[in-house]
Amino acid sequence: MSRDLERRILEYLKEKPGTVDELQEELEVEKQRITGKIDVLSEKDLIKTHKIGRSTACIFNEDADLPTKDSEKPRETEKKPDETTSKEEDKDRSSKKKGPKTIGIVSGKGGVGKTVVTVNIGAALLELDEKAIVMDADTEMSNLGLHLGMYTYPNSLKEVVNKGIHIMSAIHVDKESGLRVLPTSLSADPLEKEVHEAINMIPEDYTLLIDSPPGYKRPIERVIEVSDELVFVTAPEIPAITDTFKLSEEARKMDKKILGAVVNMYSSHKKHLSVDEVEEALDMPVIGTVEKTDLVQRSIFEGTPVVTYKPHARISRSFKKIASDITGKEYEESFLQRIRGVFSW
Ligand SMILES: Nc1ncnc2c1ncn2[C@@H]1O[C@H](COP(=O)(O)OP(=O)(O)OP(=O)(O)O)[C@@H](O)[C@H]1O
Ligand SMILES: [Mg+2]
Repeated sequence: MSRDLERRILEYLKEKPGTVDELQEELEVEKQRITGKIDVLSEKDLIKTHKIGRSTACIFNEDADLPTKDSEKPRETEKKPDETTSKEEDKDRSSKKKGPKTIGIVSGKGGVGKTVVTVNIGAALLELDEKAIVMDADTEMSNLGLHLGMYTYPNSLKEVVNKGIHIMSAIHVDKESGLRVLPTSLSADPLEKEVHEAINMIPEDYTLLIDSPPGYKRPIERVIEVSDELVFVTAPEIPAITDTFKLSEEARKMDKKILGAVVNMYSSHKKHLSVDEVEEALDMPVIGTVEKTDLVQRSIFEGTPVVTYKPHARISRSFKKIASDITGKEYEESFLQRIRGVFSW
């Protein structure tokens, strides 16, 4: 009977991660019994547990074999002689970072287009068959959802931290673009320890793009801390470049991988800094330029990324090229697509 409960817990967790509360509700068993079994399974290394706020989230250990129904023996006895080398591999795997690939979309300057860039790189990643989630880390002026026509959410990171729900239950899918959104609605420091742990519960095959507030002190430092890689957004003007440079210095001190800069609101014939000048001033490569166009306002009005709204427009192609650069996946433009782009406004 008690082995049965272990099996039921494992079978549930094999399908999706869950908290103790979720397991209790789903399996209709007293919380105490669930907690006891979680300890046993964790000791057997069949599951991993993470404390998130007041709750414990449990994940099935993919490297573990589910014991068969008739012979639920300790794992050691199931090991074959040639499995000794896998111990080394296990060590390797556990020392690697878990969770999704996190990319902070940052800038020292406000209003340069961080949110527009986050949402559209996210939509462009989907076109490349990548799994992308955009996260709003701007708690004071949280408006990422509005760019996608999302005004309210049943759950956000606040519920993940305060009520212990699983982070995947706080992710909402935008119907139009298919983009996944993780809203914040936190009044406290946006990326505290619990949030960091919760983020790591997102499966490894996802890319999490973090839309950040402007500035170069806290809370932006928190975004940088939690990011594996950084994309700097700037306008091609001296004040934006100066603020962005200050922030990039902070990021360098924190030893973060800088993918490069996106120069937004760029126009090749206007009087502003050139790509070469931006690269020299920021001391990083420009991974893409994004033109200034009314399509951005129109797409925000429609509540959809411009990449989804006008997929062939020049601005959308720019975002797809940036996404391709970030992932290393090829984005090929057919001649017809380029022609369609000319007439897409
Ligand atoms: N490429 C563009 N072309 C035209 N307008 C743009 C472009 N990018 C951004 N905008 C406009 O600039 C406004 C500010 O953009 P956005 O909200 O993305 O900036 P932000 O850096 O996230 O601002 P904040 O620092 O306040 O979070 C948008 O509402 C949009 O109207
Ligand atoms: Mg913003």
